[in-house]
Amino acid sequence: MKYDISNIKINKCQKSKIDTFDFEDLKFGAKFTDHMLICNYKDGQWQTAEILPYSPIQLEPSARVFHYGQAIFEGMKAYKDSNDDIWLFRPEENYERFNKSATRLAMPTLPKELFIDGLKTLLNVEREWVRKGMGNSLYIRPFMIATEGGVVASPSNEFLFCIILSPAKSYYSGKVKVQIAEHFSRAANGGIGAAKAAGNYSAQFYPTQLAQQAGYNQVIWTDSATHTKLEEAGTMNVFFRINDTLITAPTSERILDGVTRKSLIKLGEHLGYKFEVRHILVQEIIEAFEKGELKEIFGAGTAAVVNQIEGFEYGGKYYELPHLDDEKSYALQLKDALTKIQNKLADDPFEWTVKI
Ligand code: COI
Repeated sequence: MKYDISNIKINKCQKSKIDTFDFEDLKFGAKFTDHMLICNYKDGQWQTAEILPYSPIQLEPSARVFHYGQAIFEGMKAYKDSNDDIWLFRPEENYERFNKSATRLAMPTLPKELFIDGLKTLLNVEREWVRKGMGNSLYIRPFMIATEGGVVASPSNEFLFCIILSPAKSYYSGKVKVQIAEHFSRAANGGIGAAKAAGNYSAQFYPTQLAQQAGYNQVIWTDSATHTKLEEAGTMNVFFRINDTLITAPTSERILDGVTRKSLIKLGEHLGYKFEVRHILVQEIIEAFEKGELKEIFGAGTAAVVNQIEGFEYGGKYYELPHLDDEKSYALQLKDALTKIQNKLADDPFEWTVKI
């Protein structure tokens, strides 16, 4: 599928809102830059992409996305180094996953030129919005929605691909407390758990609300059949440290193949940390906790990067994890190593960063 991105139309806004923007006071994903990229799919092909001022989109009330949730997205970040160069982190991984999600949701795949080169063109227009310094990034949200009108329950023939950008610091403002799912499920075999589908997230809202009412921030999902295996945490993949070994569940039809997850495993192994990618049972972490061997639990994802978990609730009991400082916490050590690569402050042994 060849797509010519050089035809892209660029229509810039009259006046940037950047001067009115407070880069120090950022609520994750709340505010967006001056421009967005859009591209429509119709008559069996992707049309000419456009960069235009960030603005509302008009859709038919009967558009399939509103009725059947035919929608997918990605999460990526751009970083600026001390030379003012802008870098993406493993963008091809997101591109490939986006297309896998598209196929699972009966949506058209995207040509690489549209996703990657379109994004680079947009980032070049928005260079000023990428701030340098550790902890700063520009969160990138590519998404696709079904736009064809008509409430017949069948896939749309028309779609909108769009990229919006939001200056970001961290997703969570500290450690999180989690509840281990004993009844609700995020995904099941044969379902859409491995896709970055909008519905995977809305399905979590209600059980997460219940967890929040009980005093927890997030839910750690367990397998839908037995609720005995630990799988994924809210917006993140999840790692458990028993003594000196980091354990995370294998990706599957139910678990998202997270870019941060796989980068941490590869980088961590390179740095000498021991990982096991295998099923991990709730019972195993409770026994490890009781023996004093459960040292840490943390989540990993693009938005959150690495987020320490303070403790977890299971079976009506709360288990508070040890308070490890920067030197002792594998979560914080790995976060530091990864974010230094992303920010071009350390060597990039796997050539993950891509200059735009
Ligand atoms: C990301 O980490 O980029 C995600 O997609 C999670 C999101 C729901 C905030």
